[in-house]
Amino acid sequence: MSDPEPLWEEVDRYFESALLPADPVLDECLRSSAAAGLPDIQVSPPQGMLLHLLARAFRARRILEVGTLGGYSGICLARALPADGRLLTLELEPKHADVARKNFERAGVSGKVEIRLGPARVSMEQLVADRPEPFDLVFLDADKQNTWAYFQGALRITRPGSVIVVDNVVRHGGLVDAKSADPNVVGMREMVDALAHEPRVRATGIQTVGGKGYDGFVLALVL
Ligand code: SAH
Ligand code: DHB
Ligand code: MG
Repeated sequence: MSDPEPLWEEVDRYFESALLPADPVLDECLRSSAAAGLPDIQVSPPQGMLLHLLARAFRARRILEVGTLGGYSGICLARALPADGRLLTLELEPKHADVARKNFERAGVSGKVEIRLGPARVSMEQLVADRPEPFDLVFLDADKQNTWAYFQGALRITRPGSVIVVDNVVRHGGLVDAKSADPNVVGMREMVDALAHEPRVRATGIQTVGGKGYDGFVLALVL
């Protein structure tokens, strides 16, 4: 007999039906991403709404995302922007970027969104060198090994009061295994341990359960 569905999946569906508006654009984003063979690893609908609400609450006008995939979290973030707001999203895979570009068009946010192709460490270095107007919110959600490098880059292109959110920090609890050889775990531990010695941020870690299983995120305020 198969395991019963965890209760938190049902609770996520309840929150989704009770609190989240019907959203044909996000539905189509998921459908087109699956049809193109993209991995099913975008944020859950309640998590997407959390990103949207954070961006609105912090009145973000410039948002940086690392890891576009099919554009699901990007749509949630871009919709929070004012008319003159901008989302820059970094993606390695041209195929993911193509799917995302169509989804940003369907969502009516293409005018506010730029997808920059290539390894995010390279894109980040170029971005830092360009000395852009500071980003108000940064969402780190690409390859987990490079998370601390992305975080350090983010610190150079944000300002006091900016917020940095890091996805997939907990990974079913693997985070607490100091001897783990999993590069995702090693990368996240490197970030958390480095944050302890980083005077420029105040941060916390929050564990989550839901449609995406047991995971968690780090939220950091740039001081
Ligand atoms: N933020 C998305 C999910 C991102 S999944 C959402 O929630 O909707 C992680 C993405 O990071 C994938 O599309 C993957 O191709 C991309 N990625 C992996 N390594 C990368 C790298 N070195 N540089 C840029 N993007 C990378
Ligand atoms: C993976 C990446 C993610 O960004 C995510 O939310 C879940 C899983 C992964 O690489 O497996
Ligand atoms: Mg993620």
